[in-house]
Amino acid sequence: MPVYAPHKIILFGEHAVVYGYPAVSATVDLFSKITLIPNKAGNIYSSFVSKTLNYLGINDVIVKVETDVPSGSGLGTSSMIIAGILYHERNYDKKQLAKEAFEIEYSVQGMGSPIDTTTIVAGGYVMTNGNLGIPLWEIEKNDKRWRFSNVPAKEIDVIIVYTGPKGSTREQVAKVRKFYDRGRFARDVMEEIGTITNEGVKQLMTGNLEKLGELMNENHSQLKIFGISTEIIEKVVNIGREYGYGSKLTGAGGGGAVIIIPKDKDKIIKKLKELNLIYFVTSTTNVGIFRRP
Ligand code: MEV
Repeated sequence: MPVYAPHKIILFGEHAVVYGYPAVSATVDLFSKITLIPNKAGNIYSSFVSKTLNYLGINDVIVKVETDVPSGSGLGTSSMIIAGILYHERNYDKKQLAKEAFEIEYSVQGMGSPIDTTTIVAGGYVMTNGNLGIPLWEIEKNDKRWRFSNVPAKEIDVIIVYTGPKGSTREQVAKVRKFYDRGRFARDVMEEIGTITNEGVKQLMTGNLEKLGELMNENHSQLKIFGISTEIIEKVVNIGREYGYGSKLTGAGGGGAVIIIPKDKDKIIKKLKELNLIYFVTSTTNVGIFRRP
């Protein structure tokens, strides 16, 4: 049966989450349809797909992914495809699906956190390592442990802007890790990101978009310190700061997507059109991965 998997955004805390700090992510109303069609063996796939098929012990299929979102956008495409293939083939409960999808992603990437896989599987607003919301599950890897909860908050409008293909998540995570391993300064920035994330989730729950936007702007400035923003990301973030409540890069950075919480939608769209950029006017959703005939 076809699987429908939502893309995800990270509102606060990407990169910091790799080291066990809190983060807040959400699924958005942009779904991809994943279908496995029987075919002769010997198809060539990306490492994510072939790892997942190997894991399931199948190779005689075509994996068809229908989505409007360009891959490499930082919106969780690889997690979505891994979880989608697993769910297409087996009757998982969501916790087990999130765990196995993360194991496969980690085996390809060699680093990172389970934030993308869990968000896509669970749906809604997901807090990692926080004290708010309804507990979901925990995932451990090496000496790290991530606790997830579902945060009850109203859906919000968001404009997602594609700024071009991002650097591989692995490369971006490795880049930030170099800073982190080098000394106190990067750790202090991570601590601050953690504080902003905890404040951000409260504003999300009270629906205070002004405050939420300000905190997103701050989080973006922190991420910029790690050298993962680009010229075009900065242009888009500035549009978001001027005509929206706030804006930041989302995901690994080095390209990929920027999120804007819109205030003056028409103005933002006009500006994005002037820059010839691909964008999606959407909203957060409480729906996670599901199957439907
Ligand atoms: C990628 O969507 C989020 C990062 O924090 C990496 C990860 O947590 O795996 C950059």
